[in-house]
Amino acid sequence: MRKRQIGLLFGMEDTFPWALVNAINARGGDRVEAKSVEISYLKDDGIFPYDVILDRISHEIPFYRTYLKCAAASGVKIVNNPIWWSADDKFFDNLVAKAANVAVPRTILLPHKDFPPNTQAKSFRNMRWVNWDEVFDYLKFPIFMKPAYGGGWKDVYKCDNAQEFFSAYDQTRDLTMMAQEAIEFDSYYRCYVLGRKRVHIMHYDPKQPHHLRYVQNPPPMEPQFEARIRRDATALCDALGYDMNTVELAVRNGVPYAIDFMNCAPDADLHSVGQENFDWVVNNMAEVLIEIATSDRKLELTGSWPRVMKTDKPVDQPLMSSRA
Ligand SMILES: Nc1ncnc2c1ncn2[C@@H]1O[C@H](COP(=O)(O)OP(=O)(O)OP(=O)(O)O)[C@@H](O)[C@H]1O
Ligand SMILES: [Mg+2]
Repeated sequence: MRKRQIGLLFGMEDTFPWALVNAINARGGDRVEAKSVEISYLKDDGIFPYDVILDRISHEIPFYRTYLKCAAASGVKIVNNPIWWSADDKFFDNLVAKAANVAVPRTILLPHKDFPPNTQAKSFRNMRWVNWDEVFDYLKFPIFMKPAYGGGWKDVYKCDNAQEFFSAYDQTRDLTMMAQEAIEFDSYYRCYVLGRKRVHIMHYDPKQPHHLRYVQNPPPMEPQFEARIRRDATALCDALGYDMNTVELAVRNGVPYAIDFMNCAPDADLHSVGQENFDWVVNNMAEVLIEIATSDRKLELTGSWPRVMKTDKPVDQPLMSSRA
């Protein structure tokens, strides 16, 4: 069999990509080889010198996104799926979570504060004024406001009252913001989920400064509760079809609520996640990519959510309620 080629596409990361290349090549033998992707212009002939590409950066470089979509359509297996990632957003994913029977905070999508480029008042003739009392009644304070297409804690606000809410909203420009019930959590977990089935649970304390967030020597977890965290994390990644993701869960009264689970290029830097988490993600991602490279996986447009969601329910009936 021809030696399978795994390419890594990345930006400013210094630790993870090189460690991953070494981990794959240490295991690959004469079956699989990893290296960094090399791109100049993209020719329209559908020829790509890779069997698999791990994408860590196309969310910031649109030229790469088109490259990856074309590669996917030409038979290259891309992690994560660039076609679905381009369509996905965090608000939609809350519906996916409910369908996958994972609890999520009550959430509302807000209209843009400012006009997006090339629009003006007349472009919005379908829009009606928001009844803020209804919004606040549904969510209750405190409320988190964050972008539906966000990441990296940018434009995330915690608002304790209406005044703080509107002063945050005023700063959101033309972003698509969601407003969300704040989960006052007892504990918080950040889980790597690789290949839709390998789960590594990290105790995470988002209230600490960045370098202290990954809790060292955490207390052991009760087995049944750990099983639920694993189930919820894999159910989300299976529904979304992501092979490398982190799922964040905030636990209130024993119930894990999915807070942030669309992290298609999750932080895997040695200096941020620490040696033990780093070793786990490097070794397991190497194995997942080798599995994908030697599999006969076909082009997927998305994960399992179209089969999981009840698209045949009456439109005036709610989705099945999430499992709070
Ligand atoms: N509904 C919520 N309840 C409680 N805490 C929340 C909620 N939403 C967000 N947070 C807090 O804000 C932080 C940032 O929010 P979130 O993870 O959704 O944003 P992000 O910009 O996507 O971050 P990331 O870089 O992890 O992708 C979370 O880690 C959590 O501590
Ligand atoms: Mg987050």
